[in-house]
Amino acid sequence: MNADVKVLDEFLRFPSISTDSASRGHVNDCADWLVERLQKSGLDVEKHPTKGHPVVLAKNKHIEGRKTVMIYGHYDVQPVDPLELWDHPPFEPHIAGDRIYARGSTDNKGQLLAHLLGVEKTLAAGKDLPVNLTFLFEGEEEIGSPNLEPFLEEHRDSLLCDVVAISDTGMVAPGVPTFTYGLRGIACLEVLLKGPSTDLHSGIYGGTVANPATAVAQLAASLHEVASGRVQIDGFYDAVVPLEDWERQAWSNLPLDDAEMISLTGVSTLYGEADYTSLERTWGRPTAEVNGIGAGYQGEGSKTVIPAEAMLKLSFRLVPDQDPSQILAAAKAHLKAVCPPGISLELKMGHDGKPYKVDPHNDFGKAAQRALQATFGKEPALIREGGSIPIVQSFKDVLGADTLLLGLALPDCRAHAPNENFSLENFAAGIQLNQNLLESLGSC
Ligand code: BES
Ligand code: ZN
Repeated sequence: MNADVKVLDEFLRFPSISTDSASRGHVNDCADWLVERLQKSGLDVEKHPTKGHPVVLAKNKHIEGRKTVMIYGHYDVQPVDPLELWDHPPFEPHIAGDRIYARGSTDNKGQLLAHLLGVEKTLAAGKDLPVNLTFLFEGEEEIGSPNLEPFLEEHRDSLLCDVVAISDTGMVAPGVPTFTYGLRGIACLEVLLKGPSTDLHSGIYGGTVANPATAVAQLAASLHEVASGRVQIDGFYDAVVPLEDWERQAWSNLPLDDAEMISLTGVSTLYGEADYTSLERTWGRPTAEVNGIGAGYQGEGSKTVIPAEAMLKLSFRLVPDQDPSQILAAAKAHLKAVCPPGISLELKMGHDGKPYKVDPHNDFGKAAQRALQATFGKEPALIREGGSIPIVQSFKDVLGADTLLLGLALPDCRAHAPNENFSLENFAAGIQLNQNLLESLGSC
């Protein structure tokens, strides 16, 4: 294990699961580890408590006249269940071939650490950084960054920067440098359906009351038209900006085709909105997904019951110029209209975040692409991504800064899933990328 991988191994051992209140102490310990590492590199470090998990800020000496670059990352991770599907314990990093396996290895600790080590190495070599640098690391990205936008507003003056850079997205294939110029937004909704005041005998009452389990299936099924794969919520597509011809053309030449998608997902055939390729559907079109559904008897054998309640968890991925609150309002109206009589709906909003898109050809975009080219020796692919990093649009809204997304995640990294892994080759490339990026942005 080389010295850099040893540091990664240490970082990955913190079970910093932001959604799990029992892990609060571990999340905090992970923040402390970052603070110590950053201090040792010679940066000025501040740890800021929030209502949730801490924000860690680190800066070099900012000098008038230099470009100011903020590098963002998140040290929190997703939960690990189903634990039994992991080949090795998720917080005991395991190396096999070129990959390190652990929760958070790709999303986002490995990518965050590549930047930290890049800076650390520049400073350890006695060189000055070519930019004014601010590291902003948060512990709540995986729960929608609820406290970070208020933090940006509160500390706006100290966080103002020319541009933000993040490595928390993907590469289209191994060895293919990838510049991401758009992210989908997100809007989540939890639905609780209540019918009878208690579970009922389905012989005595079946036929006289609406069944919440049936109703929840009807609500879920009402979201899409099966033949076209389109979302059937009134107004859902109204604000959608169509894909541009150049991007459809560019994406059609990428080394990520339908056969690869089938093999990555394990499905027998792909399905989605008609008239779009799978890359267009995931990167440039909005979707509605059922993330969870539940009702009724799940045990062995039959139990003749009409359950009193049912639940549904939905998320919508959004593209420019869809607005999360408008989409949630439209979804609520749709669900209420479809819900059968005698069932009441309780609707609770979850995470939300606006979609993001930037011109990949502006000066900072071109500088970032030069750094990718210098690191990987190839021209970068220009893509959008289907995932969301809600704070990115807030960087624009609050700080007025565009974000450069230079991801190092491979398509089979299994982010959020069992056996998450990060390519050690990409880890090493990421360290180099950080140095090339700061050089390149410094001379912008
Ligand atoms: N790193 C991902 C975002 C991502 C994933 C971008 C794949 C591009 C491709 C991030 O950690 C994430 O998982 N975000 C959540 C946000 C949500 C919890 C508000 C997401 O996209 O589900
Ligand atoms: Zn994630």
